[in-house]
Amino acid sequence: MTRSNPDVPFVIGHRGAAGLAPENTLVSLRRARREGATWVEFDVKLSRDGVAILFHDDTLQRTSSGNGPVGGFDFDRIRKLEAGAWFGASFAGTRIPTFPEAMQMLATEGIGANVEIKPNPGDAQKTAEITCRLISEAWPDSVPGPVISSFDAEAMAVARDMLPGIERAMLFGRLPNDWKRLVEELDCTAVHASNRHVNEMMVQEIRRAGLPLRIYTVNDPARAETLRGWGVSSVFTDRPDLIKD
Ligand code: G3P
Ligand code: MG
Repeated sequence: MTRSNPDVPFVIGHRGAAGLAPENTLVSLRRARREGATWVEFDVKLSRDGVAILFHDDTLQRTSSGNGPVGGFDFDRIRKLEAGAWFGASFAGTRIPTFPEAMQMLATEGIGANVEIKPNPGDAQKTAEITCRLISEAWPDSVPGPVISSFDAEAMAVARDMLPGIERAMLFGRLPNDWKRLVEELDCTAVHASNRHVNEMMVQEIRRAGLPLRIYTVNDPARAETLRGWGVSSVFTDRPDLIKD
């Protein structure tokens, strides 16, 4: 059984501090820390040539100057894209970071992290293998964690097999009826689920199973307090300036 990570605080910066800086960039990770978050979450996927990068969507256009599927471009093309100006002129010149660069930033800033494996369609196994290999080679000694998570069961099975000693959390939108079977099969020790579908009974059910429940994405401080009162262990927030431990 994988140990549950005791270091995870109540507030986890979502994609860094996605409400304050361009998501999944180094400036966003740093901003989360500046606002007081000691942990962040970010999404890892692959370029066509297998470079692990921080990026959320399957396509480039929402959060960069590119267009088309992320998995359709080699890293040298992706690196040239503008990834900050869409969020605000003052962020112009921001680049899409590699996962190793993000790990380096965690060490520099002293931040823990939840690494969400976010494969491009059909790319779960390779994305999980490369992400796990990089974690085992380069996760900084000075930083706690990580917690690995994914919506993708195939990716989580790879993580279970490659990194059995690292905490892994199954990610859900709406909690399926067979959530417990899946969590046990994948040897996860935490559940991450959507704020849209959470209710107090569900929190109790997961707590009765002895698992921490972490909820995304919570940007309203009153809602965060309600969830805390129900027994939710952590919230992922775009606004770590508003939601505090
Ligand atoms: O890992 C929590 C949360 O980030 C999951 O949803 O779409 O924001 O990656 P998403
Ligand atoms: Mg995510």
